[in-house]
Amino acid sequence: MTRATLARLFAAMLVLTVVISVVMVQIDWNGTAGSEEADDIDRLLDVMIVLSAFVYSIVLVMLGYSIWRYRAKPGDESDGEPIHGNTRLEIAWTVIPTVIVLFGAAYSWVILDDIEARQPDRLQVDVTAQQFAWKFEYPDADVTSTELHVPVDRQVEFSMQALDVIHSFWVPEWRVKKDLVPGLTTHVVATPDREGSYSLICTELCGIGHSTMRAPVVVESQDDFDAWLAKQAKAQGGKQPGGGAVEEPSQEAQQGESIFTEQGCSGCHTLAAAGSTADIGPNLDEVLPKRSAAEIHQSIIDPNAQISPGFGASIMPQEFGDSLSDKQLDTLVDYLMSSVQGGK
Ligand code: CUA
Repeated sequence: MTRATLARLFAAMLVLTVVISVVMVQIDWNGTAGSEEADDIDRLLDVMIVLSAFVYSIVLVMLGYSIWRYRAKPGDESDGEPIHGNTRLEIAWTVIPTVIVLFGAAYSWVILDDIEARQPDRLQVDVTAQQFAWKFEYPDADVTSTELHVPVDRQVEFSMQALDVIHSFWVPEWRVKKDLVPGLTTHVVATPDREGSYSLICTELCGIGHSTMRAPVVVESQDDFDAWLAKQAKAQGGKQPGGGAVEEPSQEAQQGESIFTEQGCSGCHTLAAAGSTADIGPNLDEVLPKRSAAEIHQSIIDPNAQISPGFGASIMPQEFGDSLSDKQLDTLVDYLMSSVQGGK
């Protein structure tokens, strides 16, 4: 191959790289960006697209050239020339990909280092996942919620635990994603920079209710966030003064309802009193009125003891007997009994 041919092939590779890159970078692969991290990650994706386009162009141009240049003439039945290696070519096809991969690794490292740097004023949120629900705790305010509220333009560090199987934390607009692994605490940071309502999506296949394992995310101004947090703290009798001024019976019901939602029951069961409409497990408004308190208690700690028609065994987690205290179990059973008996 002459020097001039080589130069022409290289020029063809560059042109093809530019054409592919321009088209592919135009496409909005990730949708709306809603965090400071998103800009870095989207730029990294663009760089990777250009590098991939270059590698793809090398392969495509050389393939096309070889097919055209070394095609057999009509009637040519002879074997091809035997080839015994080419040191220069082998060095080139080792060095070029190595340089490309090392560049990609170094650039990714810089970006990861940048987005994972902890800011001193960050907000701490503890996340707990279990089949098939999310729970958020704000340790500084003693507040627990099934909705994720965060202030805009402030870094949030999520410390995450899974109670049963592997789940994965993903708010598409924030780009960052991290698994929650039983027995480990994993961390992920995000700095939401766009107010609005989003969805936290579980992105690890975790069981029959995986596709419903979502939680509302609200990104709001610091003032709105503070107001929300104070309201939650008051309702939950947290550190806010004046908590516990709620009258006795409704507090019981409220505790029952929070156990029902926080333990994930609402992720699978319909219960009008709790406003849940899921249909992975039996509709509690229908099946519970036929059951005694003792039977309900048993179904929570040993779900396979009595299976409702139309539902398979072992769909419901088996460990509530261990994870709930006796008092929580009693509160939950009382709550369920009163919820399905017309608020008696
Ligand atoms: Cu949790 Cu999928």
